[in-house]
Amino acid sequence: MPDDPERGRLAALRAEIDAHNRHYYVENDPLVSDAQYDRLMAELQALESAHPDWVTPDSPTQRVGAAPLARFRPVRHAVRMLSLGNAFEAQDVHSFDERLRGLLIRAGLLAEASGHAEVQGALFDEASRAVEYVAEYKFDGLAVNLRYEGGLLVQAATRGDGVNGEDITANIRTLRSVPLRLVGDAPAVLEARGEVLMAHADFERLNAAQAARGEKLFVNPRNAAAGSLRQLDSRVTAVRPLRFYAYGWGQIEDASGRDFVPRETHAAMLDWLAGFGFVASPGRGLCHGADELLRFYETVGARRAELPFDIDGVVYKVNSLRAQEVLGFVARAPRFAIAHKFPAQEETTRLLDIGVHVGRTGAITPVARLQ
Ligand code: IVH
Repeated sequence: MPDDPERGRLAALRAEIDAHNRHYYVENDPLVSDAQYDRLMAELQALESAHPDWVTPDSPTQRVGAAPLARFRPVRHAVRMLSLGNAFEAQDVHSFDERLRGLLIRAGLLAEASGHAEVQGALFDEASRAVEYVAEYKFDGLAVNLRYEGGLLVQAATRGDGVNGEDITANIRTLRSVPLRLVGDAPAVLEARGEVLMAHADFERLNAAQAARGEKLFVNPRNAAAGSLRQLDSRVTAVRPLRFYAYGWGQIEDASGRDFVPRETHAAMLDWLAGFGFVASPGRGLCHGADELLRFYETVGARRAELPFDIDGVVYKVNSLRAQEVLGFVARAPRFAIAHKFPAQEETTRLLDIGVHVGRTGAITPVARLQ
């Protein structure tokens, strides 16, 4: 009954809540207060309880967590989840870029600085004959694969060993930055890949709440994110403030004959993913050649402490997907990308005292007082 006013209200509420989720988590620009948001959710919940047959899996009420699992089911990834080689020093980045230049020149995808090779545009910077890269943050969280079929989130899995992961769909559904239904016209199968993490401010709030309840404190945001994703009871995950940042993709299939996947560049693919409602690798930039990569590394490194979440380095990826394909893989890592790690954020300090914290349940936690 499309003109039933209650049905209309249901659709309007869902659209409004989804829009608020997007504003809050994707655009970082909330439009309403938490109280207003909660009121909309309560109204939607009431409508759905009155009409249980109107509940659909993509309703915002369906994020709240399901009955606990006995274990995580294994998932075989449709496309293997790779890891990255590491660069630690500037010289490693120069070697990486040199190696890629050599391979791309030989493949006819890049002109030699002095050469007259006929090459396709877009793959390199005309003036400098440099390889074009997308430089991104290396998010310090946990890699996950989100699978959408017909635009609906059907499965979320951890990376595992890259071939097999674990099914954490119930947990991932509770993340408000993860669309339950893709925005707009989606391919039949779309897998978005990225990192789940906890922002600093959310981590501080969570630890304050843990302390107030006399519960164990988390060591750092990565630990808190890992612990939250590993919950067999998704109702626990639901109250942990996790975010998802997309930086890649797995399987993409569409038999409709439409050719709407921007298969030219990595940057265009990230923009395309953003159009479906993901936060796609914030803070990224385009760089040409090793010197620009190193400038990106320095700039990001200098601002690292001001970022709202932890990163442990930056990642450089060849922008042209054709070039990525030609470069291929070695072992478990692509030849077209590399992680440039920041030095570990560790400091030496003096242990002044060790106290004890007695929790609500009587659990005793040693607390170090550091200079
Ligand atoms: S791309 C084909 N991009 O780093 C390359 N990974 O050592 C696949 N990571 O398991 C990874 N930020 O958890 C990529 N912007 C980023 C990343 C990123 C963090 C993590 C990811 C992966 C590990 C690779």
